[in-house]
Amino acid sequence: MSKSHIMDIVKRHEDWRSQCINLIPSENIMSPLARKAIASDLGHRYTNPEGFYRGTKFSDELIEEVEKLACRLFGAKVAFVNVLSGHMAVLSALFALSETRDVIMMPSPEDGGYPLNVAPLARKLVYFPFDKENMNIDVDAAVERISETKPKLIFLGASLFLFPHPVREICKVANEVEATVVYDGSHVLGLIAGGEFQKPFTEGASVLLGSTHKSLPGPQGGIVLLKDDELAERFKEVLGFPPVLVDNIHLHRLAALGITLEEMLVYGKEYAKQIVKNAKALAETLYKGGIDVACPHLGFTRSHQILIRAGGREREIANLLERANIIVDEEIRLGTQEVTRRGMKEREMKILGEVISELINGERKPEDVRDYVIELSKEFQDVHYCFKGDFP
Ligand SMILES: Cc1ncc(COP(=O)(O)O)c(C=O)c1O
Repeated sequence: MSKSHIMDIVKRHEDWRSQCINLIPSENIMSPLARKAIASDLGHRYTNPEGFYRGTKFSDELIEEVEKLACRLFGAKVAFVNVLSGHMAVLSALFALSETRDVIMMPSPEDGGYPLNVAPLARKLVYFPFDKENMNIDVDAAVERISETKPKLIFLGASLFLFPHPVREICKVANEVEATVVYDGSHVLGLIAGGEFQKPFTEGASVLLGSTHKSLPGPQGGIVLLKDDELAERFKEVLGFPPVLVDNIHLHRLAALGITLEEMLVYGKEYAKQIVKNAKALAETLYKGGIDVACPHLGFTRSHQILIRAGGREREIANLLERANIIVDEEIRLGTQEVTRRGMKEREMKILGEVISELINGERKPEDVRDYVIELSKEFQDVHYCFKGDFP
């Protein structure tokens, strides 16, 4: 029998990662039903808005339903669900809402902002002033900078994102200089969907966009949501047909996204609440274990993320934890969305926090705790906050 070397790699990856505890805040796991949809026949098919392809009567219905679900879940008037990534969602806003030489304002990558390279697009980037102690935009200085630099487009939201951004305050001054405010919810869309963290539309943002696979536990992809019709035509120019940023919309991804949105409508509140509780519990335990966790004076976090200030040991710590089957990124942002999906609660956060503290403090070696982490991981293989049962 012939054997696929690639499938062997996939299998080794799956076996290993199922024995790990993942704390990378940008990742998550889909529900069994969403995974089923992503492996469906839809992944072989095309459609386009002008009806060029035949055989699309169900896929066209699918697109319409997923758009409706997205609008319902996020309280939006218009949804573009054809966007292939969070990055592309950001680009679509740049193209739709600004022109060359316009000033764009966003949080700096040094302060946890998304490291977007606008140089080839000939936009001028201005960063928000940032208050490192409180890990948030410095509102007064930001208001001043917006009045001075008059950006055309303002992005709120970040990759390192512990506390809600001052959307109301920024929108007020943005109105005065006629800037559009876009909220990049890549990291926190799952929390927003569950009514946690903040409400960007209610607070004044016109656009909510981002990745669909971080705290929102969907397939890898992107989404753009508009509060009302006003900007719809401008987004249609870059996300519609004929194509600028998207042509083939990957219908299997869309089906998986639709199922995720349906599941979030049912389970989102409970899921989002537990994520934040878990993040706080993990931070608290680490802090008690002598770890320098950012912002103890603010309760550490209000999102799925916490930040360990590792003082130059970031790479060493990421490697150390990986040897113990605990997976983190090299900024040592820890995210609780995936462990929450797997059913972990405060009790497990305390266990994990103690293990991680002991590893970082050098009190235990990775090899001494790895089997214990594997055992813990084995207990939490199911996906929670999703539809259950045998699916057709
Ligand atoms: C704030 C923010 N925006 C956009 C992106 C890009 O999203 P994607 O990885 O889905 O392209 C990221 C990625 O991590 C992000 O953190």
